[in-house]
Amino acid sequence: MSNLCVFDHPLIQHKLSVLRDEKTSVKEFRELISEISMLMCFEVTRNLALEEVDVQTPVAVAKCRRLAGKKLAVVPILRAGLGMVDGMVNMIPNVKVGHIGLFRDPETLEPVKYYFKMPPDIGERDVIVVDPMLATGGSASAAVTFLKEAGAKSIRLMDIIAAPEGVERMQKDHPDVDIYVAALDDHLNDHGYIVPGLGDAGDRIFGTK
Ligand code: PRP
Ligand code: URA
Repeated sequence: MSNLCVFDHPLIQHKLSVLRDEKTSVKEFRELISEISMLMCFEVTRNLALEEVDVQTPVAVAKCRRLAGKKLAVVPILRAGLGMVDGMVNMIPNVKVGHIGLFRDPETLEPVKYYFKMPPDIGERDVIVVDPMLATGGSASAAVTFLKEAGAKSIRLMDIIAAPEGVERMQKDHPDVDIYVAALDDHLNDHGYIVPGLGDAGDRIFGTK
């Protein structure tokens, strides 16, 4: 079974409370998504391998550690996942970014793919899929399936808010994928929205409603 990690860091929880507020402006919403992504990135990358290096300071040689081994890729699910890219790219040196375009059919809630572009060596990279919302889990599950078909072997999923239904779906479809969230909410409503959630993440990031 994949692991579910819910971050309880006070800074993340504080920012999430402002993010959820219906009165939060588009500008502030965007900034908060980016800041929360940055804070979550800190924990999601905690287990990255390091290697010893000697660094000449102006005073002496310092024994230091730098990132070693496998390379990373961040993969936002368009469009709302785009809001999380800046925060990740600012934290991870030289990270490559792949894009998966999916939208939920409003009738069936099933994901429809419209774009897929990955770094050519995606099979050798540790992949972090980012999307603010894990609702039915249909989009995340499809994204991970497409990534596996493209050769990705090591995949993590990072969402800001998840519904129990989405976590269950991911654990059933992709038990090898660890899931990191800032909040596990109560349930989905009849329109597939997370309750209490924050509404439509894409619309709130891009101001399209
Ligand atoms: C939202 C969200 C996820 C998806 C989650 O995207 O960003 O990708 O819904 O729902 P699911 O778990 O039920 O699949 P949406 O389809 O609204 O597209 P958008 O990002 O373009 O707004
Ligand atoms: N997508 C969103 O943007 N919000 C939800 O609550 C569910 C899916």
